[in-house]
Amino acid sequence: MGSSLPASPALSMAMIFFAICTFFCVLPELAVAKHARVTRHYKFNIKSQSVTRLCKTKSIITVNGQFPGPRIIAREGDRLVIKVVNHVQNNVTLHWHGIRQLRSGWADGPSYITQCPIQTGQSYVYNFTIIGQRGTLWWHAHISWLRATLYGPIVILPKKHVPYPFPQPFKEVPIIFGEWWKADTETVINQGLQTGSGPNVSDAYTINGLPGPLYNCSAKDTYKLKVKPGKTYLLRLINAALNNELFFSIANHTFTVVEADAVYVKPFNTKVVLITPGQTTNVILRTKSKSPNATFVMAARPYVSGPAAFDNSTTTGLLEYETSVSSKHNKNKNKKKLPLLTPVLPKLNDTSFSMNYNKKIRSLANPKFPSANVPKTVDKNFFFTVGLGLTSCSKNQNCPGPNNTRVAAAINNVSFVQPNTALLQAHFFNKSKGVYTTDFPANPLIKFNYTGTPPSNIALSSGTKVVVLPFNTRVELVLQDTSIIGAESHPLHLHGFNFFVVGFGFGNFDPKNDPKKYNLVDPAERNTVGVPSGGWVALRFLADNPGVWFMHCHLEVHTSWGLKMAWVVTDGKRRNQKLPPPPSDLPKC
Ligand code: C2O
Ligand code: CU
Repeated sequence: MGSSLPASPALSMAMIFFAICTFFCVLPELAVAKHARVTRHYKFNIKSQSVTRLCKTKSIITVNGQFPGPRIIAREGDRLVIKVVNHVQNNVTLHWHGIRQLRSGWADGPSYITQCPIQTGQSYVYNFTIIGQRGTLWWHAHISWLRATLYGPIVILPKKHVPYPFPQPFKEVPIIFGEWWKADTETVINQGLQTGSGPNVSDAYTINGLPGPLYNCSAKDTYKLKVKPGKTYLLRLINAALNNELFFSIANHTFTVVEADAVYVKPFNTKVVLITPGQTTNVILRTKSKSPNATFVMAARPYVSGPAAFDNSTTTGLLEYETSVSSKHNKNKNKKKLPLLTPVLPKLNDTSFSMNYNKKIRSLANPKFPSANVPKTVDKNFFFTVGLGLTSCSKNQNCPGPNNTRVAAAINNVSFVQPNTALLQAHFFNKSKGVYTTDFPANPLIKFNYTGTPPSNIALSSGTKVVVLPFNTRVELVLQDTSIIGAESHPLHLHGFNFFVVGFGFGNFDPKNDPKKYNLVDPAERNTVGVPSGGWVALRFLADNPGVWFMHCHLEVHTSWGLKMAWVVTDGKRRNQKLPPPPSDLPKC
């Protein structure tokens, strides 16, 4: 593995070869240019594949039959051209989570937001350039719950000859956490919405698709990381689980966190990483200088702050040191004897761990990576409550809540209703009438003690509402958790931008005093942030990317319940500030 680029598919290799040849032979003066841009081609065939986990075989939807899906690898500045062909019965879209998609919103992927789904037998080419980003991101399906099995890593290496701001690791290893249901996940969410009692929780968590020996029938399905002593490994951690934030630790080892959401951070050491769905974290693992006579368990289990039922199981894998040549004969004998050391994870509801951990994440913000480009002043302030509430079920349903209601979720009490056509198309062609309205509230319509005793009326309103932002608006957005039905940490994800996490705290946001304590020097820059359970987080971003940008809780169940909205960012005046027209193969609804 290492950090070298593996070959792309054969066809694209030839094309790249041709491109490079043209580049160097025909334009020698450009050949010395520091950063050659490369176009990397991928073909993603969406197809079903039968997979056995936990003694149960089921058919899952995959890319190219692989689970987890194939890794995309590129360098900063490269263009990616990914042809997605849908061979399954379900409608599909793919999203490149965390990619800024500067003026390429048509390639972003959330269904009914930037595109209509790719229907059976159809294809769509996602075409975008990676600008100003390097690190780990990931791709996943962005329709219903298909991302349960449709996901994979995106590795973005720095430009050629640009080193990492930390010692070059000996090896780089993607570690992607997932969540597994024995049942078909589309059935799980559809039943959950139909009965109104919420979808069934998962049966297992996975590390690189494997649950590990703590689950039934799963000892053979254990992820093993084989390491050499005295080396550094860059672990690219990705939380692709649907509904759970995760703690992760390896027995007797310490991580150095160096990057989060494809932005370098000030390195810090920790025995435990906390990672929400949607987030990515690069950590350096230094192995012991001599092969220790032990095997080390790596484990992930949830951090849960909310009121709902959850899967409280633990997924484990193994960190195994390579044994020296001399002991090779005794390998099997030795292996049996090696003691197994297990890590200590925080308790399942350890919110103070979460607070302390998130405090440590700060942009590297040094002269080489002046990443903390945080807006110092603000043009427009928004205050959004995020949380749960009740919504009426239809007459043919028999929902468990009072007066035939079920639990739903909302931002500023608006539970988002998915439109039947893509918002971006409606916006671009000036056909928003009947698709969306631009009256998403900038503040809660009814103020209450958000984290105190909830109001008696907890009914949600609903609609397809957006906020319109003029190009280059400097935005401050405070996300306030509510205690309605139960306080809970919500990992909010914004498409199209990175935001700066300038402040957070427990209780209700205090608009007078809290802004005085903002960090405008080296705040974390990310695409997904956990709104603290029973607390708030303040974000800033510059709306410099024209398009329609989804924002939602990355707990899939909350997204299904309506905890989502969209920002419409208008074109700027200059030509390079406008969203180009859609590609001709953009799917139709
Ligand atoms: Cu990772 Cu809107 O998604
Ligand atoms: Cu949520």
